[in-house]
Amino acid sequence: MSDASMSDAGRITAAKHLLEAISVSKSFGEFHAVAGADLTVNEGDIIGLIGPNGAGKSTFFNCLAGEMPPSGGRIVFDGKDLTRASPEAHARAGIGRTFQVPTTFADMSVLHNVMVGAFLRHPHRNDARDKARAVLELTGLRADQPARSLGTPGRKRLEIARAIATEPRLLLLDESLAGLTPTELQDAIALVRRIHQSGVTIVIVEHIMEVIMTLTGHVLVFNQGHVIASGTPDSVVREPAVIEAYLGRSHRRPQATDSQVDR
Ligand SMILES: Nc1ncnc2c1ncn2[C@@H]1O[C@H](COP(=O)(O)OP(=O)(O)OP(=O)(O)O)[C@@H](O)[C@H]1O
Ligand SMILES: [Mg+2]
Repeated sequence: MSDASMSDAGRITAAKHLLEAISVSKSFGEFHAVAGADLTVNEGDIIGLIGPNGAGKSTFFNCLAGEMPPSGGRIVFDGKDLTRASPEAHARAGIGRTFQVPTTFADMSVLHNVMVGAFLRHPHRNDARDKARAVLELTGLRADQPARSLGTPGRKRLEIARAIATEPRLLLLDESLAGLTPTELQDAIALVRRIHQSGVTIVIVEHIMEVIMTLTGHVLVFNQGHVIASGTPDSVVREPAVIEAYLGRSHRRPQATDSQVDR
């Protein structure tokens, strides 16, 4: 894609990124959970976000989705500054997200849970129900099942469904594929692919490297609140700083070069 395109008025305008997070930080007291993280997302991307436990990935997502106001930096989505906007404003602008720990409404049916998302753009009940049913078809969930009867994989899928029902342009998935059996994992990977093919741009936090390797073309590695590496999944896992972040300094190969690393 070129950096510039011709607008209707015939002027040359710079192509916009869908999301730009610039030097985002989030502190809890003296502790810097996110410490100047940058992320640029273009329409159509599937970007992976990996990093050791406690690296700040979910906190970064919370900032991107408006759940927590960042302590510093800027978040621009589709040309609009959303840095201090509410979660609802983020959802309305087109950012959907799932939570690492699913937050379903246990006493409600699966259909009603998904309708909660659909109401964002369909205020009339029948329209919201139609939208929710279409999303359930895409996600392969049964409408009349009570949410409390779902196990963890089902609740994770329900969270994805509720997020999709808000009709996001960008979907932030926080470990939505964790805790699945190998078969469930393949189904979930296929679901993420279908969502992407339907035109949704995706950023996915995931510890399972199979997911990252299969789904993403570009990965950012988080450690101690900032991005320590970025590139293709294959290349980042070979970077000494990444190996060190996961395993500690003692596992770093002395003077390892690309050609010396086993392939
Ligand atoms: N509300 C909070 N108050 C204080 N500290 C917090 C809060 N939320 C997160 N933290 C701390 O910020 C750090 C980053 O947490 P975060 O959940 O963002 O990590 P993560 O990369 O998502 O880890 P994981 O892979 O385990 O999910 C952790 O040390 C965590 O304890
Ligand atoms: Mg997390």
